Amino acid sequence: MWIDSHCHLNDQAYNETLDQVIALANASNVNQFIVVGYDLESSKRAVRLAQQYDSIWATVGIHPHDAKCWNDETAQEVKELLTEPKVVAVGEIGLDYYYNHSSKEDQIRAFKEQLTIAKEYNKPIIIHNRDAHQDTLDILKKEGVGPSRGVMHCFSGSLEVARECLKLGLNISFAGSLTFNNAHKLREVAASIPIEKILVETDSPYLTPHPHRGQQNSPALVGLVGAKLAEVKGMTLAEVAQITTENCISLFKLCLD
Ligand code: NI
Repeated sequence: MWIDSHCHLNDQAYNETLDQVIALANASNVNQFIVVGYDLESSKRAVRLAQQYDSIWATVGIHPHDAKCWNDETAQEVKELLTEPKVVAVGEIGLDYYYNHSSKEDQIRAFKEQLTIAKEYNKPIIIHNRDAHQDTLDILKKEGVGPSRGVMHCFSGSLEVARECLKLGLNISFAGSLTFNNAHKLREVAASIPIEKILVETDSPYLTPHPHRGQQNSPALVGLVGAKLAEVKGMTLAEVAQITTENCISLFKLCLD
């Protein structure tokens, strides 16, 4: 069995096809889905989906792209959503200096305040970090990650950054980018860090793994990320599936029957 530890089944891309997408995933032994919020609306939708589907777990948070919308009311709404059943994390939160859809100041403020909220509500964090490794690590070191820990989602940094994340108590999650032809450095990182710290994800509908690039991504493809991981680590697919699933259950404290 696989868990897609980070997907956006709350995205409009799946409005018409959600049941098919879930059935297709199940047919590929992908049986649980962490559906990640990125603004208030997608967070609410993740919570609704978690109510509707046994196999879906929700997270709520404001992505750095939308950090400009962060204010006391948003914070209050995030806090209220965190009290809903099956909400397992705060995320995705963090910094994105590639797109800079919100100013650095707004991104840093929203990130810090959501870190505080995560600690207050004993939830792990899901961190989005693009071209902002240093500031992300500095903030995490200064503010602290908290006992519920968290995950660096769609990891894209160096081995040095990965080691800093591990020291902070974070897990590292690999997405379809691990399978890309030019991702040699990333595969070296994956080879060097303990499997007990690794999660797998699709980040669908984005980041479709090789050899399906150009098509819409879906959780059914998370096994391709797992297969690449098995290859770089010299493990069997079954071992990688089992261990990454256990890592995900443990991080998000999933209660599976
Ligand atoms: Ni995402």
